[in-house]
Amino acid sequence: MAAIETASGAHAMGAVKVHDHWSSRIGFIIAAVGSAVGLGNIWKFPYMVGQSGGAAFVLVYLGCIALIGLPIIIAEWLIGRRGQKNPINTMAEVARANGRGRGWVLIGAGGTLAAFLILSFYSVIGGWALAYLAEAGAGSFTGIDKDSAATLFSGLLANPGRLLAWHSVFMLLTVGVVAMGVSTGLERATKLMMPALGVILLVMVGYGTTTGSFGAAVDYLFTPDWSKLDSGVVLAALGHAFFTLSLGMGVMIAYGSYLRQDIDLVRAAATVAVADTTIALTAGLAIFPIVFANGLDPSSGPGLVFVTLPLTFGKIAGGLVLGVLFFALLIFAALTSSISLLEPVVELLEERTPMGRIASSVVAGLATWALGIGALLSFNAWSDVLIFGQNIFDLLDKLTSKFMLPACGLGAIVFVAWFLDRESVRKDLDLGPVGFGIWNVLARYVAPAGVIAVFWGSL
Ligand code: PHE
Repeated sequence: MAAIETASGAHAMGAVKVHDHWSSRIGFIIAAVGSAVGLGNIWKFPYMVGQSGGAAFVLVYLGCIALIGLPIIIAEWLIGRRGQKNPINTMAEVARANGRGRGWVLIGAGGTLAAFLILSFYSVIGGWALAYLAEAGAGSFTGIDKDSAATLFSGLLANPGRLLAWHSVFMLLTVGVVAMGVSTGLERATKLMMPALGVILLVMVGYGTTTGSFGAAVDYLFTPDWSKLDSGVVLAALGHAFFTLSLGMGVMIAYGSYLRQDIDLVRAAATVAVADTTIALTAGLAIFPIVFANGLDPSSGPGLVFVTLPLTFGKIAGGLVLGVLFFALLIFAALTSSISLLEPVVELLEERTPMGRIASSVVAGLATWALGIGALLSFNAWSDVLIFGQNIFDLLDKLTSKFMLPACGLGAIVFVAWFLDRESVRKDLDLGPVGFGIWNVLARYVAPAGVIAVFWGSL
């Protein structure tokens, strides 16, 4: 792997430090896929499908990925690559270079704030996965039944000390990887973790085909009952498209800022979107056969993965090993996402304060960890602390997914499509006339109108 390059000479401007680059094209794509694929695909997607009633949600979600998510990934990378700095300074600089006002900084600032808020609860769920890895290793799933699986999960939620311990471990791991830096840390870690993910999921799907409920799962995921569709489902699908592609929170702007000029943004974005969607659907195909074969409730919420899968691991041959592998996979996927969530905040501190990378990572990690305590207490001691009728965990989740991410993503695409010089954008995207025509329609009209329509409909 190429060494970290410091680009200090090339782009240095003002007082803001400029940073190193991805060591290769494939290294960047792997890291971007690592950011996109995470708890969102394996923990959140299935339970949201279940809560929204199945295929209608899935199809709207797929539409959001293709028509809205894809152009926005490209827009965020384009902005990041032009700015070469943390999302806030990047927005300021790209806006200034194009004669636009300071107000665009809000996109970078809102996105960075969203990343911080998301990581605080994301780390709590990462902690659940760590706790379950320990349970799987200890053989707790052997011979487990419906009721004891539910008790195991509710026992974890009811125990703030355990939740705090695992949340702390998860945060420590995240900070450790981020502190090592972008080429050596993020890239190398992700390269190891991603292939393992694909293989283990396929094993799970393979098991799903033997349960006798595989057909029911396929039906549930892909045969829509449009009566289940309302504005709430559409907003949830849009919000999840942003969440799962890591959009609207400065993450892709930050990852783009480590890019060199020679990468084909459109192809890279398509690769990320396809990989992310494939993993989510594969996770659905791994989980729903088990749900149906055991007569479980698909709409049971955030506990779905944690309450259903131990039943399988408890029953099948080799379940102990499979259980350990699965939760290890979930943790890997979560880590490659959480490191990307910490990145915009770290990048900001590193470039705007005298602190180096390690100190910045530790400070950002500590702040996120502290907020995460509020999130984990909403499952027990603070369950009756409600803000706007939501506990802290739900508030952080809903505020970010349903409001901040779509708003910041909308800002990014409108900025690129309407406020940057068109010819320079065409050059950046390296598209022929037809491709650029399609880009223009999607980026100028379809994606912004889609986000606005969904917002409007849900008011
Ligand atoms: N995309 C990640 C997932 O699906 C979550 C994430 C959100 C990561 C935002 C980075 C930024 O789990």
